[in-house]
Amino acid sequence: MPKPDLRVNVAGLCLQNPVIAASGTCGYGEELHPFVDLDRLGGVVVKGLSLEPRPGNPAPRLVETPAGMLNSVGLQNIGIEAFLRDKLPRLRGYRANIVVNFFGDSPDEYAAVAARASEGQGIAALEANISCPNVRHGGMLFSSHARLTAEVVRKIRRATHLPLWVKLSPNVTDITEIARAAEEAGADAISLINTVLGMAIDLEARRAELPLGFGGLSGPAIKPIALRMVWQVCQAVRIPVVGMGGIMNGRDALEFLLAGAAACQVGTASFADPAACRKIVSEMEDYLRRRGIATAAELCGKLQTPAE
Ligand SMILES: Cc1cc2nc3c(=O)[nH]c(=O)nc-3n(C[C@H](O)[C@H](O)[C@H](O)COP(=O)(O)O)c2cc1C
Repeated sequence: MPKPDLRVNVAGLCLQNPVIAASGTCGYGEELHPFVDLDRLGGVVVKGLSLEPRPGNPAPRLVETPAGMLNSVGLQNIGIEAFLRDKLPRLRGYRANIVVNFFGDSPDEYAAVAARASEGQGIAALEANISCPNVRHGGMLFSSHARLTAEVVRKIRRATHLPLWVKLSPNVTDITEIARAAEEAGADAISLINTVLGMAIDLEARRAELPLGFGGLSGPAIKPIALRMVWQVCQAVRIPVVGMGGIMNGRDALEFLLAGAAACQVGTASFADPAACRKIVSEMEDYLRRRGIATAAELCGKLQTPAE
């Protein structure tokens, strides 16, 4: 059996394979390189960037939970200018597509970061993390309302010519409504899911384990939620979906493709094993070869419904 073709396409962007390192779990990309050859990945999504650098939340920021991890990093980052100056020039030498994750406090700040990022050479796509509070609306998250989602995405769309991926939060009642709002406002692709809100308590100290009380749950614990949401969103929109949440191995990644994702991202798995992304690419390839499946793309959305 010849080597399977792992190439996939996300809104016109060709990826040599469907595996992308997820934002916040691979630093600014090169941190992963001692463990994963960045020439072998479909892409890397850098830590979320804002207009100015941000210090993030106080420690402790990570708590291990059954089958997952809670984090409260709080969007610490070096700012878009330092990224363009100090990180991007080296990063663009690799074959992995560079995706810039970014955020802001207001639609104008999102648009300003997007516009500045669009001046950087070698950026393949932007990923807007809209799970952030809108300071003008009393801290309401952009991602929790279709109207706020549409407003911020429309502003970003006008500020960039780059492919725009909009990353959704799972902490909503109807994910399809938010996804449709993002699509109508001009998103080229939808990424999901971001972390699920959760809490851990230290019984003896009678205290929450994270300083702010709660944090974002990631890892295998959230995979069933992520698969369900990816599957629902794939049926609700016409633009491609990049799926993530709890992918730990090649089989998990292929399940996201079956649910309809065009590509997938790997986050928490890299904390357990920094070489996870590389291993996941090989495991996907092995599976396809053993099953005689010629291309990864042909699995996308091929989930049988129970009646079939
Ligand atoms: C420590 C940490 C930091 C993260 N930082 C960001 C971020 O800056 N922007 C973002 O959109 N998502 C961020 N995420 C969310 C991940 O990119 C991903 O959506 C989520 O963890 C689910 O995937 P996983 O279960 O494979 O980790 C972060 C996740 C973790 C664990």
